[in-house]
Amino acid sequence: KATLGGEDFLTLLDFSPKEIQSLLESALVLKQQQKNGTFSEALKGKSLGMIFENASTRTRVSFEVGMTQLGGHALFLSPRDMQIGRGEPIKDTANVLSRYVDAIMIRTNSHETVEELAKYASVPVINALTDAYHPCQAMADLLTIYEHKNTLKGLKLAYIGDGNNVAHSLLAAGAKVGMDVTIASPAGYEVDQTIFNRAVEAAKETGAKLELTQDPAVAVSEADVIYTDVWASMGYEQEQNERLQLFADYQVNETLVASAKEDYLFLHCLPAHRGEEVSGEVIDSVHSAVYDQAENRLHAQKAILLSLLSEK
Ligand code: CP
Ligand code: NVA
Repeated sequence: KATLGGEDFLTLLDFSPKEIQSLLESALVLKQQQKNGTFSEALKGKSLGMIFENASTRTRVSFEVGMTQLGGHALFLSPRDMQIGRGEPIKDTANVLSRYVDAIMIRTNSHETVEELAKYASVPVINALTDAYHPCQAMADLLTIYEHKNTLKGLKLAYIGDGNNVAHSLLAAGAKVGMDVTIASPAGYEVDQTIFNRAVEAAKETGAKLELTQDPAVAVSEADVIYTDVWASMGYEQEQNERLQLFADYQVNETLVASAKEDYLFLHCLPAHRGEEVSGEVIDSVHSAVYDQAENRLHAQKAILLSLLSEK
């Protein structure tokens, strides 16, 4: 079994298809164990420091509960209460926290901050969302798709909307498991070209087809999975009104999904805005697996924690 002992978890692009596969298998086992009530206390005595510079419901609760279920402990650390919020350097924070905790999870706007933290921390650092990636979300997404479709390879996922962190992580995820991903975004809101190129390079190993378009209908055609996310991510709230106009044709609604496969799966990382990026009809339909997806954050992250904190 591939173990990621001691590594950082910043983007799925850093891992091999085999490692991603192994994490998914572990998550499925952990999920089953939790349903059976047979918790493993594999992380007894271990602590996870969780730095949140931005709001969170799923990430915070699933990491905290996940550590508890594994016999360990999680600390919620807000920059409002930490010296980092008063300008203490990342380098010092990384070094000091590494003397107390066994892993550090961080949610922050800038991906460079996470990279800097990882550079100076001697314990694994987990990216819990930056402007560039949301790898823990992508692992939960893969798990959910696998559970509903019984496979990942060869499926087509259509992502409609902002070319953001979640879109980037879906490209990386598709590349690693051989799932085709088409992203439809309005002009000026496409995914980052460098990240796209890295994902395309990684996709050569699995044969996944990664494509960009401005036409949501093209993306959705014959799709197995339809995914969308908020139009104005955290940090872009001031653009909310402008984006409402610009993204108006990108709403995932009954008209758009008509050309998808009949048994298409709808996913959204949440929080969602009914009437904006998705209609209530779609997100609350039988096609939607958004609550399974949210639950799977717990199981996927337990697998990630166990792998990072096990011996290499
Ligand atoms: N999907 C997700 O990361 O949710 P939170 O912002 O609530 O953590
Ligand atoms: N793209 C969203 C994801 C929230 C989980 C954001 O960055 O705000």
